[in-house]
Amino acid sequence: MKLAISGKGGVGKTTIAAALIKSFARTHHTVYAVDADPDASLAAALGIPEEVARGLKPVVEMKEIIREKMGDGTFFTLNPRVDDVLDNYSYRHRNIRFLRMGGIKRGGTECYCRENTFLAALISSLLLDRDELVVMDMGAGIEHLSRGTARGVDLMLVVVEPSRLSINTAYLVTELAADLGIQKVRVVGNKVRTPKEREFILNSFPAERLLGIIPFSNHILEASQEKGEVPEEDIENVLDEIREKIEKEAGGVPS
Ligand SMILES: Nc1ncnc2c1ncn2[C@@H]1O[C@H](COP(=O)(O)OP(=O)(O)OP(=O)(O)O)[C@@H](O)[C@H]1O
Ligand SMILES: [Mg+2]
Repeated sequence: MKLAISGKGGVGKTTIAAALIKSFARTHHTVYAVDADPDASLAAALGIPEEVARGLKPVVEMKEIIREKMGDGTFFTLNPRVDDVLDNYSYRHRNIRFLRMGGIKRGGTECYCRENTFLAALISSLLLDRDELVVMDMGAGIEHLSRGTARGVDLMLVVVEPSRLSINTAYLVTELAADLGIQKVRVVGNKVRTPKEREFILNSFPAERLLGIIPFSNHILEASQEKGEVPEEDIENVLDEIREKIEKEAGGVPS
């Protein structure tokens, strides 16, 4: 099963991605955790120690491997074989294999065609060739997905908080996702403090698109201020419910 998580900045994508990945990792052999957001905070949220996380290079910066896989002449391959990169260069943490993608590179005069082709090949390998569980923490732009790779995504989870802006973004992301050919887009509400806020989110989406509403938790906020692992104690029940719905909607999870 391949899951992508998107939504407006700061709504809680990384927090929810980490909580879900940790939950999946308790019952599955391997979960690929992909940080596809250039600001990169998923490692800390998963409990990877800060000093280790700091040393984890985004794959787009792995010059040697890129040269080895892509060739360094004028011409380069458009279909590099990268399946071993996923095994050899992901960081193992419990049952989690963590990978930082890094952002798609754009330069003024410089061409980053090699880097970007390499990234695209990795994403394609993860989403289309593997049977494992993959969870990708993305930005609102979902720029790492293309028309080709998006069909590998079984479900895109869009996170919203009780704000009009985050809901507008959710509708935009839903349109983008549909254009790319992503099969299913579902919504999760987050950081909800009051019944009124809950109502606001409930009224913003058709019931069948909303998988659950996660309450605001001081423990979560405090842990992130210390760059610690996401604590699940306040959100356990609703997280289990969301996980169950994801598994049902995305057609089961490999063991
Ligand atoms: N349920 C929650 N209760 C309290 N605080 C939360 C909750 N979910 C997320 N937060 C806090 O909100 C902040 C933003 O969360 P997070 O980094 O997960 O969002 P994001 O969408 O990944 O942000 P970005 O767009 O910057 O990647 C963090 O400080 C996090 O601890
Ligand atoms: Mg994030």
